[in-house]
Amino acid sequence: MNKILITGGAGYIGSHTAVELVKAGLEPIILDDLSNSNEKVLDRLEEILERKLTFYKGDCNDRSILDQISKDHKISGVIHFAAFKAVGESTEQPLKYYSNNIGSLLVLLDFMKENSISDLVFSSSCTVYGQPDVLPVTESTPRKDAESPYGNTKKICEDILVDYVKSKAGIRVIALRYFNPVGAHPSGKIGELPIGKPNNLVPFITQTAAGIREKLTVFGDDYDTPDGSCVRDFIHVMDLADAHVKAFTYLNDKPSGFYDVFNVGTGNGNTVLEVIHTFERVNDLKLNYEIGPRRAGDVVKIWADTKKINSVLGWKPSKTLEDSMRDSWNWQKGL
Ligand code: NAD
Ligand code: UD1
Repeated sequence: MNKILITGGAGYIGSHTAVELVKAGLEPIILDDLSNSNEKVLDRLEEILERKLTFYKGDCNDRSILDQISKDHKISGVIHFAAFKAVGESTEQPLKYYSNNIGSLLVLLDFMKENSISDLVFSSSCTVYGQPDVLPVTESTPRKDAESPYGNTKKICEDILVDYVKSKAGIRVIALRYFNPVGAHPSGKIGELPIGKPNNLVPFITQTAAGIREKLTVFGDDYDTPDGSCVRDFIHVMDLADAHVKAFTYLNDKPSGFYDVFNVGTGNGNTVLEVIHTFERVNDLKLNYEIGPRRAGDVVKIWADTKKINSVLGWKPSKTLEDSMRDSWNWQKGL
């Protein structure tokens, strides 16, 4: 069975991807330092999968733990999720972000080369597009200057990968530009578990519904959008997880030096208010929310053109916004 090292595999997207890898007959080897996740996720994964998983607690900047993993297992590919992702914190502590997000990629690439591991799927973000001039965004939409050190780390990592594959390093790479991941595993056993006060919309919605937060503030309703609130492309995390499996399968017969990038979204934009109202409708509850001022640095509207991933990887999302809102609440209720 092909063993795939997943850095950050105890995190939100990594844990859901571990489930999909096993379902596809691949063996995830999880490396996570638990800086933004909890070891209990491993127990939950084992409950869902009804089997044991291999987990290493450690930092993927630490070459010795990577070497230990390669002594213990024949790794055939890597999915590199591990990164810090709090945009606000990245503006306060940029070096923490540059060091972890870029440093870990460099260590990993060196490790892959020395161990003749050719295949890499990298977690990028739609943040690289900034506020695009034309919508929806295709993969060839020009990237803009990053709005934050976090966003810049994703842009720089993409550039590093482009340069590295050109250097005949013997690797094949896909960068997936995620839009806004939401939802949870339908079992409610794993989901997004932000540490402290959430920054992202859906965890804030679910925590407000659960009474953990008093109310949700909608950041602006006077934008040039159908109802004045911002527009995003909300992709169910299980569909996103499946895109990683498809990306790996696709890399299989690609030549060394291959690099490509794919948007992973639904292809539809939804406003913040639509998300709130969908959450209320499918879960039959009322959310305490108010309209507040705009959030500095917010992109007004963005959604993905998904023709490339649909046709090239044969990937299509199977879940709706309704599914995402039901699954997110199901997960929150179980906490
Ligand atoms: P997450 O914080 O839930 O998961 C990341 C995991 O990586 C965490 O479990 C954390 O403990 C671990 N980690 C961080 N640094 C590490 C290190 N040096 N060594 C080992 N483990 C380390 O985040 P997520 O939402 O699952 O995001 C996964 C990836 O996707 C990240 O690269 C993120 O930037 C990217 N991304 C996320 C989103 C989003 O909205 N969630 C959107 C676009 C891109
Ligand atoms: C944020 C990050 C982006 C990252 C993405 C996915 C910023 C500026 N950008 O984008 O770099 O790639 O997450 O992790 O943080 N909203 C509210 N009230 C809230 C929370 C959010 O109205 O309490 C609105 C926001 O104004 C936005 C939408 O909901 O319009 C989505 O917000 P969020 O979940 O933070 O994601 P992004 O802004 O898309």
